[in-house]
Amino acid sequence: MQIFEGILDTASNHIFLVISLLILLVILIWLKAIQVNEMKLYHDLESTHLFPALQNQNFRVLKYKQSYLLFHRLLQSLFHALFERCFRDSSIRFINEIFEFREGGTVAIDWVNVLPSMDDHKPLLIISPGFSGDKTSAYMYCIYKKAINDGYYPVVISFEGSSGRPLSVILTLSFKYLQHPRIYKGWSGEDIQEPLEYIYERYCIDQKGERIRQVFFLAISFSGTILTHYLGKEGSEHKIITAAASVGTQQRQWISNITLKKSFCGQTKKIFGLQLRSIFAENVDMLQDHFETEHNIDLPYYIQQNRGIDQYTLLIAKMNGFEDMDEYYYRVSMIHSIPKVRVPMFYIYARDDPVIGYDHIDFEACQQNPYVLVGLTKRGAHVCHVESVIKPSMWFAKPAIEFLNSFRVDY
Ligand SMILES: *[C@@H]1O[C@H](CO)[C@@H](O)[C@H](O)[C@H]1NC(C)=O
Repeated sequence: MQIFEGILDTASNHIFLVISLLILLVILIWLKAIQVNEMKLYHDLESTHLFPALQNQNFRVLKYKQSYLLFHRLLQSLFHALFERCFRDSSIRFINEIFEFREGGTVAIDWVNVLPSMDDHKPLLIISPGFSGDKTSAYMYCIYKKAINDGYYPVVISFEGSSGRPLSVILTLSFKYLQHPRIYKGWSGEDIQEPLEYIYERYCIDQKGERIRQVFFLAISFSGTILTHYLGKEGSEHKIITAAASVGTQQRQWISNITLKKSFCGQTKKIFGLQLRSIFAENVDMLQDHFETEHNIDLPYYIQQNRGIDQYTLLIAKMNGFEDMDEYYYRVSMIHSIPKVRVPMFYIYARDDPVIGYDHIDFEACQQNPYVLVGLTKRGAHVCHVESVIKPSMWFAKPAIEFLNSFRVDY
């Protein structure tokens, strides 16, 4: 009997083992199946302006192969947040310049490793970090690497608040409006214009007054809004930027705010709220009087009482002269400027973006402008697209820069 049971035992053990292996195999096959993401492109089919990119094989062959382990946007986002340091490259150095606006206020210009040599024709790649990011953010290193490798001079433009800490563009704009409320019109992108013209005149023109290099722009997340407003305002008059790209930039903020609210059960919104709060807290001395007189708000008390992003977005809306959040969300959204852009512009998105979603994308409006290309992958989360956990890198820098490469002449 005992011998018989023993045989039965081993048999059931074997069955258990076989089933486990089968399940494991199915999971692995599934992970493999979802690993490769094609990027779907949306554009005006007759566009000649996008032709160089659409014909560029180096650009067209690119597919996002996500890390085996980071198969979900939650894992992508967590990896990005927790292992930010692993993306850094200690060999990267910054050469800092402070640019002063004519009307006051400053912006930081950081050259990566070297200043442009006047003896070559290598193009500039201007990069602007997203909300709460700066020149040392994980995604920035992925861009530097590809940019240096492809023969660009990368340079970072980041906006700083009065505390000197790199801030979101939103608040810097607001601070400047505060100092000069009549000069700046809301959300026109004027804040990019002056530093850009400075960089152009100082580094892109030789002594004979001839242009020696091209300028490209890559904007991350929120900063893409400012870039698009700027390019939209300039329209066909624009002469400095040859082509541009942005990743994870919301087109219609009154739609993406719904996604943000649900993101990771409200946790993303909470974190952004606390970040905004700390920005206000750090700059309270400077803002206090303005809020007291203009909006009848006791700012120190307000900061004590409020922790949510909505409350601070409302402050930003007020600082910019908007009635309420509805008006703010509507006016700030870059969708109004997309139809007016007249340089090749590539917007990169992931369908599973937990911060802005993808239904804010106005495919129709984008496809009506022959300068605009939209690229959408199924996975990739918000400014992540992590390819590997062993050698951490983010994929989106590749299509962004390959797109720009299509328009290079390096004269
Ligand atoms: C999103 O914005 C719209 C327009 O401003 C507003 O009506 C709506 O209530 C907001 N939704 C959320 C979830 O914040």
